[in-house]
Order: sequence, then C-alpha cells, then structure tokens
Amino acid sequence: MEAAIYPGSFDPVTYGHLDVIKRAAKIFDELTVSVLDNHLKTPLFSVEERVNILKEATKDMPNVKVESFTGLLIDYAKVKNINVAIRGLRAITDFEYELQIAQTNRKLSNETVDTVFLTTSLENAYLSSTIVKEIACYKGDISLCVPENVMKKTYEKYNITINDIKEKYKDVE
Ligand code: PNS
Repeated sequence: MEAAIYPGSFDPVTYGHLDVIKRAAKIFDELTVSVLDNHLKTPLFSVEERVNILKEATKDMPNVKVESFTGLLIDYAKVKNINVAIRGLRAITDFEYELQIAQTNRKLSNETVDTVFLTTSLENAYLSSTIVKEIACYKGDISLCVPENVMKKTYEKYNITINDIKEKYKDVE
C-alpha cells in the first residue's frame, strides 16, 4: 500500500490545500494530512481547531485522515512508516524554500523520505493562509478562498459575523 503524509500549518486550510489533498488522495492509497504543532509560530487557530476543521473539510474522502505532529517531519514519518511527503507548489517563489526543505528531509532521513510536489491549480495559485487571514481581519470577502465552515470560523476569530460581511458588500453585484 502506498501511503503519503501531507504536512503543513493549515492555519486555516484553503481551497489550494484542499485541491492538493484531493489530487494526492487519488495518487496514494492513504493520505495523512498532518498539522504541525509549531512552537515557533503563534497561529490563529489551535492545533485541535485546525485538525477538526480539516476533518470536516475532508469527511467525504475515505482514504484521507487528519492528525497533528510536533518536531521533525522525518521523525514523525519514521514512526508512521511512511516515506513520502506531499507539498504543493504555487509559483517559483515557493520553489527555493521547498527545495531546501525537501533536500534537508531526504538527507536527514538517510535518503528514505522523498517529497512529491503537486503544482496547485491555476485558480488557487495566489492563495495562502496568510492572505486569507489578512483579507478576513479587514472584513474582506474570503468566500472564494476557503469552504463555508472555515470562512465562518475565520471571521469569528476576528469577531466578525457573516452579516457584517453581507452588509459591507450589499451594494456589490
Ligand atoms: O504550511 P507550512 O507552514 O508551509 O508547512 C511547513 C512544514 C510543516 C511542512 C515544515 O515546516 C515542517 O515540516 N516542519 C517540521 C520541522 C521539520 O521537519 N523541518 C524540516 C527540516 S529543517
């Protein structure tokens, strides 16, 4: 059975991540989406919230499971006995960082962990969790960036209701 891990911060998950998840789940028999519990960053959503949001967003994908991990990806991969990491590539700007991480993981794992890159769909190429949070905190429309449940939870973090957004955009077609 071919299994893969898709690690990330997913703070919050976007349509770009979900596109990568759907496509990776077609290629691999089992995909584990793993939320990094990163002590170096202050996230908007707790690890538990991100795991639950991802579980909800992937509930119709039977070969996808959602977990969290701390520490090095290669240590987590070893425990799970999985040798493939999935990452999405949006643009050339992602490439340098992703290449470095992929090469580091391969070297650190004695060349057992490889990274498979999926290019994101063009309609999602501009998307990132950081951009979603920035738009949301200024009451911008994030409906094209994230599923409805994620949209609601993201606005809630900034004490914004869906009605606030509707009111703001009521004159826009
Ligand atoms: O969604 P992100 O924040 O771009 O995901 C980055 C992630 C989680 C894939 C990466 O930071 C990671 O794997 N961190 C765990 C620590 C690690 O193994 N780092 C790579 C070797 S330095």
